Amino acid sequence: MTLGLDLGYRDRFYIPRAADGGESVYLCGHSLGLQPKTVRAYIAQELRDWELLGVDGHFRARHPWVEYNKLLTEQTARLVGAQPLEVVTMNSLTVNLHLMMVSFYRPTARRHRIVVEENAFPSDQYAVKSGFMASIPRGHW
Ligand SMILES: Cc1ncc(COP(=O)(O)O)c(C=O)c1O
Repeated sequence: MTLGLDLGYRDRFYIPRAADGGESVYLCGHSLGLQPKTVRAYIAQELRDWELLGVDGHFRARHPWVEYNKLLTEQTARLVGAQPLEVVTMNSLTVNLHLMMVSFYRPTARRHRIVVEENAFPSDQYAVKSGFMASIPRGHW
């Protein structure tokens, strides 16, 4: 199947073939997108810096790791319609879920339910369960 609209992005990614060997359209609603063709070179660069610099890569790598969060600030702000000061790109999805549960889940007697899809990713389920458990005062489990 060929898309009618091609903005030139399709060629930038490796797109898995359909089961019958034909072209496919890749629609994925969660975190694992397509592999950009440039990603191998970017990862190789970081591995080289790690190999040659070890812990000093935090400060001397081509893209110093200690400030890696700043590399995506402008793009992330544009993506979500926020000011650069209002965003930070950090952690893994699961860690961020834990942080959101700790920061925002404030159950009351009337409002305490958490709705999660039935087959949620295992780490999502653990994050929600542990956030729920953390909201219960010790001795009340
Ligand atoms: C829906 C969903 N939840 C959680 C994860 C785990 O992400 P992470 O390893 O960044 O915590 C993934 C990863 O693919 C995911 O798709």
